[in-house]
Amino acid sequence: MEFDLRDKTILITGAGRGIGRALAIGAAACGATVGALDVDPSLLQELMSQPSGESGRIVPLIADVTDRSAVMAAAAKLAGGSGRLDAVVNNAAVIYYQPINEVTEATLDRMLAVGIKGAVWGVQALIAHMDPSRGAVLINMSSPVAERGFRGTGVYAMTKAAMGSLTRTMAAELGPKGIRANALAPGSVPTPGAIAMTTPEEYQRRAATIPLRRLGQEQDCTNALLFLLSDASSFVNGAILHVDGGSVAAG
Ligand SMILES: NC(=O)c1ccc[n+]([C@@H]2O[C@H](COP(=O)([O-])OP(=O)(O)OC[C@H]3O[C@@H](n4cnc5c(N)ncnc54)[C@H](O)[C@@H]3O)[C@@H](O)[C@H]2O)c1
Repeated sequence: MEFDLRDKTILITGAGRGIGRALAIGAAACGATVGALDVDPSLLQELMSQPSGESGRIVPLIADVTDRSAVMAAAAKLAGGSGRLDAVVNNAAVIYYQPINEVTEATLDRMLAVGIKGAVWGVQALIAHMDPSRGAVLINMSSPVAERGFRGTGVYAMTKAAMGSLTRTMAAELGPKGIRANALAPGSVPTPGAIAMTTPEEYQRRAATIPLRRLGQEQDCTNALLFLLSDASSFVNGAILHVDGGSVAAG
């Protein structure tokens, strides 16, 4: 066990697959009680059917992050066990890579609703259920596309830039209440959602431009997220941690 998350109750949105799923399994292995929230019940069913070698446990929570009452109800159900929430990871996102003139009202609305509105409900759920005497942790998922221009990432990049902004504001606003707010910006990680938008040739091209000359893995994100969730990062607030092999640094 690299980080001790025993006695922590953590809500992860978009935990049915990809980075969120890997984090749910990793955090449970560190002893946490993990609320794995996703809009897709079949993904949660698959997650729960995995053999559990963890010392903590995973609680499946079906909800759409765009629906405030559903998020609050899921958070209340999870917090009911321990009496509180210690962390929320705003991970759910919808990824459409579209040149700006191909963006439709439907894709624009969905990316903004899941990526931005859903994150605000996640923050409110944490505030409602945190224990002020213990403090709490907020993590927002950003991306290198928030800081560098990547053709075709259009609206998705705007939502990820919003995560940086939300993180800085929450660090200032909620720090005095004992909530640390940080963001993780993963480089290119071939998750189910990302693979659907990216050709193998494009992945090869990207890997060649990354200073460490490889793509990211879900485990790279999990390792960094476990650090941000744990007391090992107790003075880290308002940071955007790049887990991208050096892409943003290299420009
Ligand atoms: N994969 C990458 O290369 C990469 C790079 C940078 C940032 N990120 C960010 O990391 C996070 C995870 O990305 P991923 O690649 O694992 O994504 P993914 O598409 O593989 O998984 C996203 C999960 O979110 C769920 N979800 C979508 N809409 C939802 C909603 N309305 N309510 C609840 N759950 C919902 C999906 O069902 C899915 O399980 C995202 O915030 C993404 O923007 C990913």
